Amino acid sequence: MPRATAGDRNRFAQQLFSSLPKRYDRLAEILSMGQNGRWRRAMVDHIAPSSPALILDVASGTAGVALQLATRTSSQVVGVDLTRNMLARGQENVAEAGMSERISLVAGRAEQLPFADGTFDALTFTYLLRYVDDPQATLGELARVVKPGGAVASLEFLLPPSHFWRFWWWLYTRIALPLGGWITGGREWFRVGRFLGPNISQHYRTHSLSWTEEAWRKAGFENVGIRVMSLGGGLVMWGARRRD
Ligand SMILES: C[S@@+](CC[C@H](N)C(=O)[O-])C[C@H]1O[C@@H](n2cnc3c(N)ncnc32)[C@H](O)[C@@H]1O
Repeated sequence: MPRATAGDRNRFAQQLFSSLPKRYDRLAEILSMGQNGRWRRAMVDHIAPSSPALILDVASGTAGVALQLATRTSSQVVGVDLTRNMLARGQENVAEAGMSERISLVAGRAEQLPFADGTFDALTFTYLLRYVDDPQATLGELARVVKPGGAVASLEFLLPPSHFWRFWWWLYTRIALPLGGWITGGREWFRVGRFLGPNISQHYRTHSLSWTEEAWRKAGFENVGIRVMSLGGGLVMWGARRRD
């Protein structure tokens, strides 16, 4: 695996995720109240119909999305992620699923992908933009490696737009999530549970949903669409690399 160079924010993400892989797959489902799997499926719905030959999954982590892409298409899938421990767990998941011929995982940064322009027929990225210094520049880098016309889809957390649901979301992320994290996963998951809510709020203070849609267009994507999931807790976005 090539070495990923790391800025402060990269280092923070690596530290946050390095101790999580063992329980990540199970706890990501439990703590999202079963929504993570539904959101992933909704994202992959925007990639699978175009039957891409080669897909890049960015922030691939333990390869949950990469596995779903490989299961629902006949594509070759490359997963890239910053955190080696997440990738190591991903490698085990891929081997257990008998998908080692179809999925390869490499270490790398979304901000500086180790691939030539227009390498991929399609691209996915999940829960990434809150971990990069410059989301606009990162979107440009993602666009760079996709062939013109190639499908792109993403999944991120969102702030519920309605005040009523935002209040319950706030209680859930500030109280239930850290507590649930502690009970199910110990100190590391308490830390993640405590970090997540304020981090999502902070991200959307500076990068609103309309900012994000515009950033996709500026980065070189067209036909950009959004679907707000689970009362506003999740966001699936999709588009296609513009044919210049
Ligand atoms: C919440 S996990 C999501 C993993 C996987 N996509 C999923 O849905 O289960 C976020 C992942 O983003 C990775 N990550 C954070 N910053 C990154 C960056 N700048 N480049 C590549 N990966 C990054 C982390 O290492 C972590 O594995």
